[in-house]
Amino acid sequence: MTATQGLEGIVATTSSISSIIDGVLTYRGYDIDDLAVNASFEEVIYLLWYGKLPTKQELEQLVAQLNSHSAIPAELIAAMKLYPQGTNSMAALRSAISTLALYDPLADDMNADANLLKAIKLQAQLPTVVAAFDRIRNGLEPIAPKADATSIAQNFLYMLSGQEPDQVAVQAMDQALVLHADHELNASTFAGRVTVATLSDIYSGVTSAIGALKGPLHGGANEAVMAMLEDIGSLDNVDSYIADALANKKKIMGFGHRVYKNGDPRAKHLQKMSAELGKLTGNMEWYDMSVKIEDLVTGQKGLKPNVDFYSASVYTSLGITRDLFTPIFAISRVSGWTAHILEQFANNRLIRPRADYTGPVNMKYAPIETRA
Ligand code: ACO
Repeated sequence: MTATQGLEGIVATTSSISSIIDGVLTYRGYDIDDLAVNASFEEVIYLLWYGKLPTKQELEQLVAQLNSHSAIPAELIAAMKLYPQGTNSMAALRSAISTLALYDPLADDMNADANLLKAIKLQAQLPTVVAAFDRIRNGLEPIAPKADATSIAQNFLYMLSGQEPDQVAVQAMDQALVLHADHELNASTFAGRVTVATLSDIYSGVTSAIGALKGPLHGGANEAVMAMLEDIGSLDNVDSYIADALANKKKIMGFGHRVYKNGDPRAKHLQKMSAELGKLTGNMEWYDMSVKIEDLVTGQKGLKPNVDFYSASVYTSLGITRDLFTPIFAISRVSGWTAHILEQFANNRLIRPRADYTGPVNMKYAPIETRA
């Protein structure tokens, strides 16, 4: 047996949800470039779950279902008020989603209809949880979701600030959610599928996925990119910072990808959005710094930006606190996680690979008093 480090290139399942072929990302056969400019996030959710784009009536029904399940239990809000100050936002999300299961009488119902309903609830409640966490830690009362929201993007921005968000912000958020919704067998999706392949419940699967997304080599990279931009501080410092980082073999967050070697197709949409929002807010500095970093890192290392690189300046232009970037990724990716979990349940087999053992052999037990 020979191990493949990081399972690179290993095909671990069949899936009809999304594909990356020759650098092109599709959801259910639709090119991300097409969906990014034409589809709403709710259309994408429907597409991922049901395998087709919704009719007008099906879309309205989905939006109504999401609105009807977007409130979170008072007990969860009370529990979140007990989280220590300074709690990591992804740790809070992971704990809160695990807690949600305790208040769902269907949590362990493995019937297909119950699982689909739980997918709807998770998608509907995750934005409410993230917004509530942010308000509670800032000493504010959570804002209940609108029962007649037109989109998750609108409702989420509204719940964060209590103000009606402007259309530009809603559209940018909606497009970012479309771009992050699914990505074949990425680490968090794989974690979710491994968990439910034991026939554990969907909340356990999503909780596992959140834990995997948290890391800086995966979803946590978007926060790390913003931390780097803040650290660099100004356009004038970019050259020396990057030269130093590359000379010291430091990883530049938001660059590189296990699957894409010629660039992540989602990055250009986020770059465009970052430029537009920079112009609108009258602050082009984050965008200009990002472009300069890209020139240097791509020029000197051949590494291209991934989805996380320009999303950092996009969210910052939308006025969003840095440590909410990865939870926002989760608000989007829960659509893909749940689609994959439902697919796993529909044709399940335990996921249990092997390890190439490299430890000692033929050891003999020695009584404790004889050991050195
Ligand atoms: N900065 C500098 N060098 C890099 C970077 C980077 N961001 N990414 C890869 N490299 C270098 C590695 O040091 C390595 O060089 P070496 O062969 O001289 O040792 C080579 O490129 C191959 O890199 P690996 O880390 O082995 O590639 P792997 O496929 O295992 O990792 C990953 C992919 C984790 C995305 C990596 O590129 C990385 O750490 N990037 C930064 C973190 C990041 O942006 N993650 C988000 C990815 S997208 C997402 O998950 C949503």
